[in-house]
Amino acid sequence: VRPQDLIRVKRDNGEMPPEEIRCFIDGVARSEIPDYQAAALCMAIFWRGLSEAELSVWTDAMLHSGRVLDLSSIPGRKVDKHSTGGVGDKVSLCLAPLVAACGVSVPMISGRGLGHTGGTLDKLEAIPGFRTSISVDDFMRVVRDAKLALIGQTDDLAPADRKLYALRDVTSTVESIPLIASSIMSKKLAEGIDALVLDVKVGSGAFMKDLERSRQLAETLCGIGRRAGKQVTAFLTDMNQPLGREVGNASETREAIEILQGKGPDDLLDLTLQLGAEMLLLGGVAADQDDALQRVRQARRSGAGLERLRRCVELQGGDPRVIDNPALLPTARHDRVVAAQRAGTLAEVKTEQVGIAGMVLGAGRKTVADVIDHAVGLTVAARLGDTLRAGDPLAVLHFNDPTRADAAEPILLQAFVIGDGPITPPPLVYEVLR
Ligand code: URA
Repeated sequence: VRPQDLIRVKRDNGEMPPEEIRCFIDGVARSEIPDYQAAALCMAIFWRGLSEAELSVWTDAMLHSGRVLDLSSIPGRKVDKHSTGGVGDKVSLCLAPLVAACGVSVPMISGRGLGHTGGTLDKLEAIPGFRTSISVDDFMRVVRDAKLALIGQTDDLAPADRKLYALRDVTSTVESIPLIASSIMSKKLAEGIDALVLDVKVGSGAFMKDLERSRQLAETLCGIGRRAGKQVTAFLTDMNQPLGREVGNASETREAIEILQGKGPDDLLDLTLQLGAEMLLLGGVAADQDDALQRVRQARRSGAGLERLRRCVELQGGDPRVIDNPALLPTARHDRVVAAQRAGTLAEVKTEQVGIAGMVLGAGRKTVADVIDHAVGLTVAARLGDTLRAGDPLAVLHFNDPTRADAAEPILLQAFVIGDGPITPPPLVYEVLR
């Protein structure tokens, strides 16, 4: 079938035949379908959606456009976690070592930050020497030894998604639930995992700002995974303020290490424990939720999680001394306090703007080609519902270039909305879909 005929079927709200979807995705991966036809089909899907059957075939075709890892030679169940992205979300860095310490292998393939959201790879690369791009064979060796490996997308995993995602980015077709869900799941299924825990973020710093859309995305992601024979649990969690205190690369890595050292902020710890317990349940190493939670807590208390991270850092070429001495991570030369301009209650955090302030400081990228500064970022000093006096710190900027701090400061001041009267802070976890 000609690509224009398939585009017409979707344009007119018809059902695309499975074989034709497969041919199309194969053509995209081989660069045989021109960008304008691929983009046109994405726009038709953006408007018309995909039926459950179309979505399964579309995702499966993307998954099989490249290599699918076979981790069956590694004993036990392999479980990963994926977050839809937010500000200050460094959960992967403390979660994966804790889960690995409890006996479940975590083969984690992560992304880089773009726009207001951060990325696990950038945070890891703040560790001197740490290599996020290693061969698949080395990846498997690290998983076998440390029970966790943290790497970036390789060229041969779901290549059709890479092409389509780049086209969607420049044709305003990213914000489509079936396209997002198939994009995420094709990459996760290519990892060769048995089960997946999804952290679908909701709120001002998330892709999806409202609960209803996030739930739809979560249900769509779970449906794809389950039809592919995987166990999937989705958490809907709050992103109406940054997670933890740190926003930046080295500083987020430092904060995650602190969690493993028995310190760290409550919200980050709480989410790490809840997601970790679920991974143990899916990994088949805990009897029930209480048992799972106890095991993750014990892995933190005993330092076993910290040891897993040290091993992973060592095996991936990083300087393991940062584990005991996070001060060895890069730090910015200057600090500046951003203070509340009036008294009141912290009523709203425009979290996307906080992420953008971090990007302006140099911690993130506007385009994929931008180079980031691992040392810079900001520490959030106020949480939703806090009572503030004029002059109290809202955040502390950490920067190397004062002109960047000058640009970030007004963005942050606008992001923290101070009101009158008490507010009820949002829950950390809204729902869990099992
Ligand atoms: N993340 C992805 O991997 N794909 C999308 O489409 C959106 C977010």
